[in-house]
Amino acid sequence: MRTIASRMSVMSGEGALSVFARARELERQGRSIIHLELGEPDFHPGPSVIESAGKALAEGKDRYCAVAGVAALREEIAAYLHRTRNLTVSAENIVIAPGCKIALFLAMMALLEPGDEVLYPDPGFPGYPSISLGLGAVPVPFELAAHNRLQPDLNEIAAKITRRTRMLLTNSPGNPTGTVYTDDVQRGLAELAVKHDLWVLSDEIYARIIYGNEYVSMLRYPGMEERTLIIDGFSKSFAMTGWRLGYTVAPSEVTPALLMMAVNTYTCVAEFTQYAAIEALRDREGTTPRMVAEFAHRREQFVRDLNRVPGFRCQPPDGAFYAWVDITDTGMKAEEICRALLEDGGVAAIPGAAFGPSGKDFVRFSFASSVANLKEAVDRIMKVSTAWQGTLAGQ
Ligand SMILES: Cc1ncc(COP(=O)(O)O)c(C=O)c1O
Repeated sequence: MRTIASRMSVMSGEGALSVFARARELERQGRSIIHLELGEPDFHPGPSVIESAGKALAEGKDRYCAVAGVAALREEIAAYLHRTRNLTVSAENIVIAPGCKIALFLAMMALLEPGDEVLYPDPGFPGYPSISLGLGAVPVPFELAAHNRLQPDLNEIAAKITRRTRMLLTNSPGNPTGTVYTDDVQRGLAELAVKHDLWVLSDEIYARIIYGNEYVSMLRYPGMEERTLIIDGFSKSFAMTGWRLGYTVAPSEVTPALLMMAVNTYTCVAEFTQYAAIEALRDREGTTPRMVAEFAHRREQFVRDLNRVPGFRCQPPDGAFYAWVDITDTGMKAEEICRALLEDGGVAAIPGAAFGPSGKDFVRFSFASSVANLKEAVDRIMKVSTAWQGTLAGQ
C-alpha cells in the first residue's frame, strides 16, 4: 500500500508562512497589505558581498566543494565569533549548512534517539517541537511567561528534567518574544545541563540584533564546551535570508556526525555564496551595525505606538525585530484580531499560538519594515481596533 510516512502527520508548518500566503492572495485581489508577518530584514547585503558572489561565479566557483564548507569561510567564522562574541572556536568545529533550519534539523537528528525528551522555549520557533516530533523525540516546553519578563524559569525547567531528557534548546535573543536571557538564567541553564549531562542546542541566529549590552553565548559558561552546539547563520544578522547560509559550531565529538548528515543530504553549500559570506562577515560597509541601529530606532517608535492601541500591551524587546503584544485586554482572541487586521485593515501579523500554547494571548508583529510602513500599520490597526473598543467599554 502506498502511504505517507506517519512522521509527517506529527510535524507542523509555520504560522508566518500561511499568513504570508493569505496576504499575497489579498494583494493579488488588489488590496494593499503591510507585511509585518515574516521574520525577514528589509535590508540587503552591501555591494562588497554582491561583488564577491559575482567574482566567485566568474572564477568558476560553482562546483561541488568541501562538505564541511570552504575552509576560508570556516576560518572567517571562527575569527568573527572571537571578535563579536569572545568565543575561541576552531574552524575544524564549524560545519556550513544551507540555512539555520537545516543545521538545527541535522544537529537534532544526529543527537536524538526516539523517545528522548527535548526542552524548548514556549513561545518559540515552531521548528523546535516540529523537528523533535518528526524525529520521534518528545518536545517538552518551558514557558516564557509575561509575569517572568518572558525569561525561562529555572525552577520549572529543573522540575521538567527526567531520565529521558537529552537536550536543552535555547534561543537568545528569542523568536518571537525578543527575550535576551539574563546572565543568571544562562548560568542556571548551564548548571542544569552539566548536572543532568544534557546537550545544549543554542540557537544564536539573532545574536547580533540586540539593543543592550554585549552578547553572551551559552558556550561561555562553565562546562558548556563539550556539550554545546551553536546554530547561527546569515539570514538575520546579515539580511541574507534567501542565500540559505547557516552553520553549526559543534564539539569535536559531534562534527563527524554532522558531516555524515551533510553527505547524506545537501552534500555541500553553493561555493560562490560561501565566498560572499566571507565578505559579509568582514562587513566593510558596516551593514549590520547600520541595520541594527535602524531597528533600534523603529523599536522605540513602533512599541510606543502599539501601546497606544486600546487593549495592546507591549514591552520593548531586548533583541531580534519582533514586537510581542499582549492582547488580553482587548477581550478578543489573537486569531480574531489577526484576521481583522489582515482582512479589514490590510496589516499582516501572526497570532501568538503559532509559536506555542503559551503565546495564545499575544500577537507578533515584525518591525523589519520601514518607519513609514510601521506608522501606516499603526494607523490601520487603530481603525480596526474599533471592533474591540466596544468590548473594552463594556468591561
Ligand atoms: C529562531 C530561529 N531559528 C532558526 C530560523 C531559521 O533560519 P534560516 O532562515 O537561516 O533557516 C529562524 C527563522 O526565522 C528563527 O527565527
